Order: sequence, then structure tokens, then C-alpha cells
Amino acid sequence: MSRPLVGHLDPAFVGMMEEIKTMLREVFQTRNEMTFPVSGTGSAGMEFCLVNLIEPGDEVVIGVNGVFGTRMVDVAERCGARVIKVEATWGRIIEPQQIADTLKQSRPKLVAVVHAETSTGALTPVEEISRLAHNAGALFMLDTVTSLGGCAVKIDDWQVDAVYSGTQKCLSCPPGLAPVSFSKQAVEVANRRKTKVQSWYLDVNLLGSYWGQDRVYHHTAPITMNYALHEALRLVLEEGLERRWQRHRTNHEALKAGLAKLGLQLAAQEGHRLWQLNTVTVPEGIDEASVRKRLLSDFNIEVGAGLGPLKGKIWRVGLMGETSTRENVKAFLRALSQLLKESGKRVDVEAVLAAAS
Ligand SMILES: Cc1ncc(COP(=O)(O)O)c(C=O)c1O
Repeated sequence: MSRPLVGHLDPAFVGMMEEIKTMLREVFQTRNEMTFPVSGTGSAGMEFCLVNLIEPGDEVVIGVNGVFGTRMVDVAERCGARVIKVEATWGRIIEPQQIADTLKQSRPKLVAVVHAETSTGALTPVEEISRLAHNAGALFMLDTVTSLGGCAVKIDDWQVDAVYSGTQKCLSCPPGLAPVSFSKQAVEVANRRKTKVQSWYLDVNLLGSYWGQDRVYHHTAPITMNYALHEALRLVLEEGLERRWQRHRTNHEALKAGLAKLGLQLAAQEGHRLWQLNTVTVPEGIDEASVRKRLLSDFNIEVGAGLGPLKGKIWRVGLMGETSTRENVKAFLRALSQLLKESGKRVDVEAVLAAAS
């Protein structure tokens, strides 16, 4: 990112754009032509998908089991959608049966879920939901902001029509771009619109002309961010997707084993826990916020707080991308052990670390 800037239509940058698209297709596991990074963070990717695919009055089914499903509903409503929410308790997944039941009574244009709910630590399996959506004649949309690069994301195999992600999670890049991809069917739906896309900035046709072969000027791409994404994707592919997913998995298992020795529980639904975002139930008698503050001030370790109904009840421990290492798992367990000890809990730090090993 500290390299000198070139112009956004400079041949060197144009070449880099092609490489970014090719690498993104590989990371998303798709052959979709319409694959590129939107200038903006993950929420811009969410907005990109929804503004292009929804027209006022369209019916949309959205799975809501955390902050980001809730945000999708907000954005879809701003696009004029009639939203049908399929809700699950925060920490649990959206069950295919819930979607199936909803589709018995509705004919939506789009079904959307969040793959990895960062606010709760739950990973909703999507293949069955995608099949149900298509059988009902709807498009299927997926939020992969936290999943991409940290666990399997297979856009073509899972027949996802619209997907967005972010750079700052398991791609280990600074925030600022939102990788997106549209299937042919999604592009057709956007092309058949009766009304103009209400966002000029996020219009897929305008952006497609800039990122496609025509290179029609649309907006000035954030050059430096694209350097960063190029390098981040190169590193992901150098490691290999399967190996990277496996690394996230084993470090999650190590953390889980250490936490179990500490007598702590993971909060998300068993069998559907994220490897890259571990939600830990705060034990009785422990002040959630003061542990989090001491982790930061005394150990230089930042963990997230619970949000919404989980506020004060969980810690959110990220092991994303480059930060998913055994050293980080152990540093966190060592620090947490010390803080719990200071709070009067009996802790055998060596046994905790041995379990993580
Ligand atoms: C699952 C999910 N979706 C969407 C977003 C929004 O992304 P951003 O904050 O980059 O706009 C986030 C951010 O944490 C997220 O975790």
C-alpha cells in the first residue's frame, strides 16, 4: 500500500484489475464473469446486491439470526422491498425447514441469508436453502463477509446468485473494498428492471462497464486498496484454500480445548460454530467488560463484546486470516487464565496450554 500510485486507467492498474478479478473468482470458487471488488466496505457489498436486485414492491425473504441479517432487512426495506423475516435465536442457525415453511406461503424474488454471523459465531449451512430458493423461483443471496477465506465458500457449487464479502476479515486486508459476484441469472434480473437502480454509485451495469473490457470511467478506484487486495488474494492462493480453511479449523479446535479446561463454553449452536469467530459464554460472577478492557490494556489483545441480546453475555474472539495462529490462541488463553485467576477462579494454566497444544 505504500507503493507509488498510478492512475486508475494506467495500463499497469488495468492489468492488476484483471488479476484481481481472476483471483477473486478462484477464492469465491466461481466462474461468474460479473466478479469484482466494489469500492466501499462489506456493507457497500450488501447494498450493491440489494439495490440492483430489488425494485419497489418486490417480496424478499431474509434470514435474521444476528446483527447482519437485521442490517440486510434495513437495506432491503430502503430499496422498497416487502421483507418477510425468518428469525432464529441469536447464536443459532437459520434452519432450511424454516425457509421451506415460509416459501409455502410466499413467492419472493430473492432469499438471502448471512453465511457466517459475526455477531453470534454461527455458520448457517446454505446448500439446502439455496435449493429451496431456486425451487420457488427466487434468486439466492449470501453474505460471506466473515466466511470468505476462513472456511468453505463455494459460490458455483452452492448456486449462489449474489454474494458479497469484505476485505478485513479472513482475507486479512485493511477495510475498504467489498468483493462481489453475480450469476448470469442475477445479471439478467438487474438488466430486466423496470426502474432505474436508485444508487448510481452501485449500479451493476455502470460498474460492470468499468471493471469489464470497456473500461468506461465510472468512479476513481481506490488504487492503494486494490494493491492491498491483490496482495491479500495472492497470499490466500499461495497458502491454498483448503489448507487455509484447515488452519482456521485446527486453531479453533485448539482454542476450544483450552477453553474447556478453563471450564468455559462456546456460545454458538453446537455443530455450527465458526472457526474464525469464537463466541465464549462469560462465566457467572465475571465482569465481561473489565476482562475485555484488561485484555487490551495489559496484554494488547482485543476481543469483541456481545451485541444486541448477547451484550454482556459473550466475548467474541476472532481468529481470522493471518491472526489464526497457535501462538495467538495460546497468548489469549494465557492472558484469560491470568485474569480469571485474579478474579478468584482456580486455574491450572499449564493444563490449559497443554490442552490447546
Ligand atoms: C457478516 C457481516 N456482514 C456485513 C458486515 C458489514 O461489513 P463492514 O463493516 O465492512 O461494512 C460485517 C462487518 O463486520 C459482517 O461481519
